[in-house]
Amino acid sequence: MAFNKRVKIQELFTQDYVGKEIVLMGWVRTKRSNKNVSFIALNDGSTIKNYQIVADPNQIDEELLKKATTGACLKIKGTVVASQGAGQSTELVASHIEVLGEADAEKYPLQPKKHSLEFLREIAHLRMRTNTFGAVFRVRHALAFAVHKYFNDKGFFYIHTPIITASDAEGAGETFKVTTLDLKNPPLTEDGSINYKEDFFERETNLTVSGQLEGELAAMGLGEIYTFGPTFRAENSNTARHLAEFWMIEPEMAFYDAEDNQNLAEDFLKYVINYALENCQDDLEFLDKRAAEEETSKKADQRSELGLLERLKFVVNNDFERLTYTEAIDILKNSNHNKKKKFQYLVESWGVDLQSEHERYLVEKHFKKPVILTDYPKEIKAFYMRQNDDGKTVAAMDILFPGIGEIVGGSQREERLEKLTQRMEEMHIPTEEMWWYLDTRRFGATPHAGFGLGFERLVQFVTGMGNIRDVIAFPRTPGHAEF
Ligand code: 4AD
Ligand code: MG
Repeated sequence: MAFNKRVKIQELFTQDYVGKEIVLMGWVRTKRSNKNVSFIALNDGSTIKNYQIVADPNQIDEELLKKATTGACLKIKGTVVASQGAGQSTELVASHIEVLGEADAEKYPLQPKKHSLEFLREIAHLRMRTNTFGAVFRVRHALAFAVHKYFNDKGFFYIHTPIITASDAEGAGETFKVTTLDLKNPPLTEDGSINYKEDFFERETNLTVSGQLEGELAAMGLGEIYTFGPTFRAENSNTARHLAEFWMIEPEMAFYDAEDNQNLAEDFLKYVINYALENCQDDLEFLDKRAAEEETSKKADQRSELGLLERLKFVVNNDFERLTYTEAIDILKNSNHNKKKKFQYLVESWGVDLQSEHERYLVEKHFKKPVILTDYPKEIKAFYMRQNDDGKTVAAMDILFPGIGEIVGGSQREERLEKLTQRMEEMHIPTEEMWWYLDTRRFGATPHAGFGLGFERLVQFVTGMGNIRDVIAFPRTPGHAEF
């Protein structure tokens, strides 16, 4: 006999069930009782809203009701009636309750009170049962769905690029090694180094930092593609915006130049944010209030001028500011902030890499809107970016968002074989090993471009969560791989 003949609570708010006998299953958020009756607030994860269960002790065994404590999982049969109380339009009058799983009140860590995000991170296996994390993960789902919908509707193909690779796409040397060799006793070559020829893949391999290079290969046959997968970076940065394992969306398009790339990125970001606004109203309203409460505990100069919902609507409805790195350096160099030495890293000369304090100054203080920065010095960008005619800069773009900093990185790609190999040699990227990448420049090369969107940074922006560890189910950061 099939067990799952339940109605989801979400449906009770959108369809008329009055007078019908139904089964609900979910977790008790709170229970309050008086002599005559008990009220249980039930949540099943389908919506942020709890549903009220009315249990009459004449109908439901009192010993059983005692077990319906916060966190317990119940199966309830009953009839939907119009509610007399304020706060809900209908409620369920229970005729039969079964306790599917008890939750010992002495031991259950999630009590109906406010818990800190730090505490909830330590019990990430249970935090999905809170309002905040329920909302965050429903919004995360909606955004992931919107990503696929956007590209599918535009005729892009979803490519699954490998997770184990032999290349370091960004050339930053921040890879996690993949090996089956015995670490205590690895096979050695004559000169004493590890003999990877005896390893599983007969060569050195690592977890991918980006699917871009393989994405480029696919775009050179399929035209317009995107990847959406996990990427891994062994950078030892303990910030609120870095993970060791994060999800990245990387579209790659044949026949696109740098400006086409910028247009696509802006349109795409607006689309997915708008999708969340239209499809996650309850959750975003909750998160908006939550963010507003959190703002009150911040120093006045660190509070954002707009609330969460206002911020999302603003991004959807306004053009992003586009300027070159060179123009940005001028703005930063001449800013009062720089002159008064308020930056930790002062901006003195052209060529320096922008720190997140600089990015946030441009976005939050100077332009007060998302910014697309283009044409960075080639020295601070990856080997594959197309070289501009000035000999100094490349056709890069970073998109900077308020409260987040860099959310997108991308570029037009260098499609000219000679320029590419020359740059690879300058940057000590092994051209022989990358023969397959260079082949796309040998055979049927064409201008093409692409970018990478850090999915968790997008979820952070849309949910207003300050720490990236709170927008991925089980975060991986230096020192943390629990769950
Ligand atoms: O700027 P990045 O390193 O660019 C690339 O990987 C290119 N291959 C993308 C491309 O052109 N196809 O990373 C892209 C984005 C960043 O803008 C940021 O949003 C995110 O990925 N990101 C991280 N997110 C969380 N934790 C980290 N450690 C991240 N590193 C990058
Ligand atoms: Mg970047």
